[in-house]
Amino acid sequence: MADLKKIAIFISGRGSNMQSIVKACQSGEIPAETSIIISNRADAAGLDFAQSKNIPTAVINHKDFSDRTAFEDALNEALRPHAIDLICLAGFMRVLTDHFIAKWPNKILNIHPSLLPKFKGLHPQKQALEAGENESGCSVHYVVPELDSGPVILQKAVPIIAGDTEESLSARILEQEHIAYPQAIRKILA
Ligand code: GRF
Repeated sequence: MADLKKIAIFISGRGSNMQSIVKACQSGEIPAETSIIISNRADAAGLDFAQSKNIPTAVINHKDFSDRTAFEDALNEALRPHAIDLICLAGFMRVLTDHFIAKWPNKILNIHPSLLPKFKGLHPQKQALEAGENESGCSVHYVVPELDSGPVILQKAVPIIAGDTEESLSARILEQEHIAYPQAIRKILA
């Protein structure tokens, strides 16, 4: 199918959001195909899933490069053969700089487990609990150089329930992440 958009997904670990995107491509929910999965960690569990689906993978370890620019150039080299339309960060634990982002204007998405602009950065679920919120959720947004700060495409809220822990809230949000990311991709490709 010639008009399928080509998606690259960057991961660092479990890759459950990556799986939800791959499945949405395969079911036709998203008019796209996953062309490559890139991980900065060789031990990312998500790589096994990608390989089981015969999706090309690449490991580009940031520690092998002298600086962020060289790392980002290597990411671009890996993407080059695939004519990528959209890059989805899915639990990718490296901050991309303007050196990379400027080459992909409005083409990089991220998912963050909070209702942005609330609770940017690490452990947003714990931040929400500590702030005494009665709801939290997830946000799919465009990536800009400032962390977790690009325009929001789609959000899903979940309630915070008495007795919630970081783990229980994270699990409730993650269920919504798996719905939100494919919906956001579908929305921007429409
Ligand atoms: C998700 O909660 C995502 O929002 C955050 O990191 C986690 C990654 O989980 N950025 P997974 O690797 O997609 O399972």
